[in-house]
Amino acid sequence: MLRVAIILGSTRPGRIGEAVARWVYKLAGERSDAEFELVDVRDFNFPLLDEPVPPSRGQYSKEHTKAWAAKIGGFDAFVFVAPEYNHGISGALKNALDFIYAEWNNKAAGFVSYGSAGGVRAVEQLRLVMAELQIADVRAQVMLSLFTDFEKFSVFKPAPHHEKSLNTMLDQVIAWGTALKTLR
Ligand SMILES: Cc1cc2nc3c(=O)[nH]c(=O)nc-3n(C[C@H](O)[C@H](O)[C@H](O)COP(=O)(O)O)c2cc1C
Repeated sequence: MLRVAIILGSTRPGRIGEAVARWVYKLAGERSDAEFELVDVRDFNFPLLDEPVPPSRGQYSKEHTKAWAAKIGGFDAFVFVAPEYNHGISGALKNALDFIYAEWNNKAAGFVSYGSAGGVRAVEQLRLVMAELQIADVRAQVMLSLFTDFEKFSVFKPAPHHEKSLNTMLDQVIAWGTALKTLR
């Protein structure tokens, strides 16, 4: 069975991303074509990147890096739950992506983003990063609006049509994740 991590990319106290990630996890759990796990970047307590050797060389020295590598290495595909900060990726998520390398390679990913413009600018940046990490990112994306999918910009109340977008994105992630298994 394909193993898919739903990675929560906000570490902020009071983050709304947690409700989004839980919604993704709940709906994904209704599928029978993959196994899903919620992975919270905050649980790894990362400092700013403190590995002396570039992660692409695979010489991880810190316990938090080894724990992250072991966790991410166990998945075939990823769903990134991504906030938009200053029209870009959250620093916490970029830092977590930078810590390791081989564990990302030749896997698939999709995005669930949120923000005033659906978080699309953050995801456009993330797509550039995916190429360097050798992650195949799918086209379908869930774009949640702070204005219409959250009450008072904080209580998550997604419009019903997002469920269909989520499943379309997951269909693509599972298809590409399965195809890339042969390559790995
Ligand atoms: C540092 C910072 C920068 C932000 N910049 C943007 C932005 O450029 N575009 C946007 O749509 N929302 C922006 N926001 C608003 C966030 O979308 C909103 O705070 C959201 O709750 C962040 O996700 P989180 O609560 O899961 O961390 C910003 C928020 C923060 C904290």
